[in-house]
Amino acid sequence: MRITDLPKYKLKPQELKRIDEIIKKYKGKKGALIPILQKIQEHISFIPIEVQRKVAKTLDIPEKDVYGVVTFYSFFSMVPRGKYNIRVCLGTACFVKGSKRILDKLVKEFGIEPGQTTADRKYSLQINRCLGTCGLAPVIVVNDRFYQKVNPEKVIDIVYSCKK
Ligand code: FES
Repeated sequence: MRITDLPKYKLKPQELKRIDEIIKKYKGKKGALIPILQKIQEHISFIPIEVQRKVAKTLDIPEKDVYGVVTFYSFFSMVPRGKYNIRVCLGTACFVKGSKRILDKLVKEFGIEPGQTTADRKYSLQINRCLGTCGLAPVIVVNDRFYQKVNPEKVIDIVYSCKK
């Protein structure tokens, strides 16, 4: 996806205020970039390009450095994440054990592709290459909760059970 393809989201005044506070708190500290981006991601669930520019300007570093970090780590996103962020492992062990079927079920149920968020901002879908628990494949993660040996036929129930 090119930057120009990204949908535009208008940030609320309170979100902008919080972003300014976060940047101010870390400005001038060594290694400030990652903590600033983490806090912004936690707070507004994504790091749009305008915010990346603001961070770069304040820290006096090239915009491409901020963009490089945001696009390198899967923790960061340039589009808003849903309340329930679903990650499906498509690493070799999980793939062999059926994680593609899990992904297909989720795509069909929520009508979104990996990297997208539902219009109501409840669910977002991501792909990971290995979540580090290959012996218990296939694996999905909903927010911070791991589900292992997931049966593709039960994955939708698992995701909806997260609301409880
Ligand atoms: S391949 Fe899925 S957890 Fe390692």
